[in-house]
Amino acid sequence: MGTEWVTPPDLRGRQRADRMFRTLGGLITFYDWLTAAFAHRPPIRRVDRDLNLVVDEVRVEAQDVRSLRLVAAGGGEVPSWQPGSHLDVLLPSGRCRQYSLCGDPADRSSYRIAVRRIADGGGGSRELHDSIGTGSALTGRGPRNAFPYVDAPGYLFIAGGIGITPILPMVKHAAAAGAPWQLVYTGRSRTSMPFLDELTALDAARVRIRPYDEYGFPATGAELLEYAPAGATVYCCAPPTMIANVRRDRPASAAAALHFERFTTPPIVGGAPFEIELRRSKRVLTVPADRSALDVIRSTAPNVAYSCQQGFCGTCRTRVIAGEVEHRDRVLTDRERTDTMTICVSRGRGGRIVLDR
Ligand code: FES
Repeated sequence: MGTEWVTPPDLRGRQRADRMFRTLGGLITFYDWLTAAFAHRPPIRRVDRDLNLVVDEVRVEAQDVRSLRLVAAGGGEVPSWQPGSHLDVLLPSGRCRQYSLCGDPADRSSYRIAVRRIADGGGGSRELHDSIGTGSALTGRGPRNAFPYVDAPGYLFIAGGIGITPILPMVKHAAAAGAPWQLVYTGRSRTSMPFLDELTALDAARVRIRPYDEYGFPATGAELLEYAPAGATVYCCAPPTMIANVRRDRPASAAAALHFERFTTPPIVGGAPFEIELRRSKRVLTVPADRSALDVIRSTAPNVAYSCQQGFCGTCRTRVIAGEVEHRDRVLTDRERTDTMTICVSRGRGGRIVLDR
């Protein structure tokens, strides 16, 4: 998750900012990363209640994408949520994965999540597709919101593939409120893109469907931002390259602010190699500059718990016995950071970190 505000346009009124402002934009982006990385932003509020849920309905929404309707196991209402919220889902295997809620927040009788099956992923989506069906019991945790929808004079929503899931309730909310909005939705092909009918039923003229097999790939940030209403807030949930393109081109667009959410691991910025000692396993591993501690530990312990891989859910938190940690998460408090780290994003400061693992 991230947020950016507009960099001032060129003083001469040109569409493309001059060198000084491009440099300023770069500094702002770097500052944004620093503030996020070192958690000057308030931590995401943890919601640790466990919810006993049952799969009430499974629907095929697109190629390799199915949606699950989840209801409370004992009947009754599920806890409330807002557009942008996600649910931690604890699978029977012990895996924990996060899924954006893509149903109707006003419908307290159920949650809806949608999952794309990733054949070579970490196994969570395969488990949900291959082993979970109507009647299956699941444990949910949350919901919580790390991608909040804010009131704005207008909206441009940009979704890449399964990134449509947090965007869908936002689009519906904007449409119901009568706010000016546009949606640009990209994907491999129409058959792989879920919820097309649901979206076009809202207002087909505001929905731009851009499958790569029709429009080519990749769309530039400028192409995606072309539809932004003046002063719009942009919500983007997409693969890292698309988010990077939108972040780069947004200052020259009509948009005033950008909120983005990744559904894959973000690139490691400013990483340096370090060592981790797994005290209980009696192993020492080297973490290269371009990999995370979680990634390296998973290569020897595939069942290590993780979920968001972005430092906001806390699933991968691990006790630190010794060593100096550069904390890059958005979930731990200062007190927790004295003896704990999130191994998905936080790193050692060059030396060795000893972990209780
Ligand atoms: S997996 Fe979510 S904080 Fe590490």
